Amino acid sequence: IDRYAVMGNPIKHSKSPQIHKAFAEQTDQHMTYTSMLVPEDSFEDAVRKFFAEGGKGLNITVPFKIRAYELSDELTERAQRAKAVNTLLIRNNGSIVGDNTDGAGLVRDIMHNHDGRLGGKKILVVGAGGAVRGVLAPILAEKPALVVLTNRTFEKAHHLAEEFADLGRIEAVHMNKLQGPFNWIINGTAASLQGDIPELSESVIGEHTRVYDMMYSKQATPFNAWAKDYGAEKAFDGLGMLVEQAAESFRQWRGVMPSTPTVISDLRAAM
Ligand code: ATR
Repeated sequence: IDRYAVMGNPIKHSKSPQIHKAFAEQTDQHMTYTSMLVPEDSFEDAVRKFFAEGGKGLNITVPFKIRAYELSDELTERAQRAKAVNTLLIRNNGSIVGDNTDGAGLVRDIMHNHDGRLGGKKILVVGAGGAVRGVLAPILAEKPALVVLTNRTFEKAHHLAEEFADLGRIEAVHMNKLQGPFNWIINGTAASLQGDIPELSESVIGEHTRVYDMMYSKQATPFNAWAKDYGAEKAFDGLGMLVEQAAESFRQWRGVMPSTPTVISDLRAAM
């Protein structure tokens, strides 16, 4: 039986085992998927041991995504761009391949589950940390008219915009100089974790603005509640992205794309 797992620290609250179990049942794949709590000082050893003992694939979560990127023998192009890896697989020759499915998950959730288009649109991306770096290449691949990157610390947005400029139209703008409204606003900051929201002018929101918070929660996230208050047309949270990035990992490992809507609604109902 083929073995898969997610490694992180902490890992107790990970929904990945439940998601991949649902995918496996639905697609008749003979596999197990467990969660592994890995001590900070032994991540690389844990990965190598897992594959040496016949494991087939891993998801990697906080705080190990950059170390997974560094230990990979080969990288997909999107993982190279993200400089972070959330999915590992092993080739027959023993070489470890690092992929990053986070951005594909975000784009799939927007397009397939929320009937959204990014192509030709004016998109504001808020934040300039690892979460945003992980999604920029797949967003730009949709050929938006413009991606504006903004961040509390402007310099970080500036550097990130320069780094991705070869992939499409992307520019950094100070938080207090944004010219709205945008078609999409994607929040990739960690502000919500502290119950906080980035200090954006409400002028970024128009009546047809759709908002996506990469974080998720039972109630509306603080960012989505703020956007709705100022008249955003729709506001989505990141639960769909979580399931879609898992589906994309599953497809890399098993060669079959699971169906996600019932998995998303089951998770939502259990929150
Ligand atoms: P992650 O890997 O989750 O992206 P990170 O690399 O620490 O984490 O990046 C966190 C992002 O959230 C950054 O863009 C950060 O802004 P700064 O670069 O100015 O630090 C942003 N962020 C965190 N807390 C915030 C807050 N309370 N208000 C606005 N932005 C915040």
